[in-house]
Amino acid sequence: MDFQKITNRIWYFPGDPERDWPNIVAFLGDDKTLIADGGASPEQARQVQKALEKLGRKADYLVLTHWHWDHSFGLCAWEVTETMAQEKTVALLEEQRNYEWNDDALYWRMEQGIESEFTARMIKKEYPDLSRVNIALPGRYFTEEEEIDLGGLTLSVRHIPCDHALDHTVLFAREEKFLFLGDCLNENIYCESWHYTHGRLAVLIDRLRDFNADLALESHGEEPLGRVEFIDLLWQLQTVNETVRAAVEGGRTGELETLLEEAFERPLVESDLELMKACLYGYYQ
Ligand SMILES: [Fe+2]
Repeated sequence: MDFQKITNRIWYFPGDPERDWPNIVAFLGDDKTLIADGGASPEQARQVQKALEKLGRKADYLVLTHWHWDHSFGLCAWEVTETMAQEKTVALLEEQRNYEWNDDALYWRMEQGIESEFTARMIKKEYPDLSRVNIALPGRYFTEEEEIDLGGLTLSVRHIPCDHALDHTVLFAREEKFLFLGDCLNENIYCESWHYTHGRLAVLIDRLRDFNADLALESHGEEPLGRVEFIDLLWQLQTVNETVRAAVEGGRTGELETLLEEAFERPLVESDLELMKACLYGYYQ
């Protein structure tokens, strides 16, 4: 697998949905190269490194978007000048590092609700021998925002807490107007019913719009989104979020599907219904 071009200076290594591998992004400045994220395992990290060599580059910096295993467990296989993450990401990885990594311990954490069933299954798939899990900690942390100059390419690394992960960080390349979203548009998956909470999703959408991005990429997205597609995606999320709120507050949850069809002016598809349920579950959290 090779890196795919987004712009001359921004490339992504496509993830693998079968293994829950996320997309990894390379930001190529005139002087320095920055990678986001670390990958799910040393195997993914090594594949990314090989592909990066083909671009004639070696990573100088690495930033984690959030603590989840598929973004961070590959960090141990990277040799770079500096690795960075939001301060909560570091604390959460430290917690993960202190866990026992064997079948019984993982199953116990899943039973206790500490680990989600989905992630436990995917971790076990990636690491049949769980003792091979090796969690490295980022070398440096930031709290709110970090500006990184790669030479002709400036990155704004910004902490944006969201339902998916309270430590979540996005990366915005100013000159290219490209926004790497990580998993921030996904719901909270560490709970019985995956969900969004109304207030947090509303703030997230506002903050993402403020970037005024021309291009965006999600960690588990199939391909980069253009300006119009990204605006449309945010609009859909906002429409579902607001329609659910209005229906709950107006005692009209029984009519929710009709109300959403009216708002979208089209029949609903499966993903609309999933989104609707996630907003509805979250409304009562
Ligand atoms: Fe995640």
